[in-house]
Amino acid sequence: MKFEPTDRQIRSFVLRKGKMTTGQKKAVEELMPIYAFDPDQTIDFEKLYGNNNPVWLDIGFGNGESIIHAAQQHPEINFLGIEVHLPGVGHLLMVIKELGLTNVRIIRNDAVDMLNLFIADESLAAIHVYFPDPWHKKRHHKRRIMNQEFLDLIQTKLQTGGRLHYASDWHPYALEVQELLAANTWLKNQESNNGFASRPEWRPVTKFERRGQKLEHGSYDLIMTKK
Ligand SMILES: C[S@@+](CC[C@H](N)C(=O)[O-])C[C@H]1O[C@@H](n2cnc3c(N)ncnc32)[C@H](O)[C@@H]1O
Repeated sequence: MKFEPTDRQIRSFVLRKGKMTTGQKKAVEELMPIYAFDPDQTIDFEKLYGNNNPVWLDIGFGNGESIIHAAQQHPEINFLGIEVHLPGVGHLLMVIKELGLTNVRIIRNDAVDMLNLFIADESLAAIHVYFPDPWHKKRHHKRRIMNQEFLDLIQTKLQTGGRLHYASDWHPYALEVQELLAANTWLKNQESNNGFASRPEWRPVTKFERRGQKLEHGSYDLIMTKK
């Protein structure tokens, strides 16, 4: 599977080598051709999943916990996960096979590039961005995925009534995003007073969230719909 990032300068990730377990390596070799794909034209979701169910996109799924949870709870939904970190992709591939999930597909690439290049406008019922790297240092803030340019892209890709769900354990980032989302009047916060939401049933507590909880970080969900 080729992975050739385009020449965009500032990215929301730094590609770490990351150790792969034997199981993850085997999964990448054997299951990537089955459950993952490498788009070279606009993705035809009906062809990809064999049905026209709604598609929920998970950006930067880590080891795939949130997709695994939601895909079991919602067989009537198609899940697309985009992640660059290969061990995480390997982990999700293993679990898809183990559980026999038929409604999950993966792209191993930069989600921003994939949205720009291969995802049709108004084709997504939901976009989930869970615990995106907070890039704590001020000089790294420009790497945060949640910015106005990204929201402009999301606006074109979400269906009307579609959902943008962001979650973070980093309060300063969550506050910044809360303000950013409120300024985007095409979005409606599901909570009154532009507030944070409780964790909904489709989002499990992930490894990153548990780590944050140990550090007493808290969790902040923002659930918006496209008007
Ligand atoms: C802190 S982790 C969170 C993982 C997961 N969402 C969770 O809640 O457990 C952020 C993940 O986003 C991925 N990532 C960051 N920017 C990305 C991008 N532009 N495209 C795809 N994956 C990205 C990173 O590789 C990393 O695995």
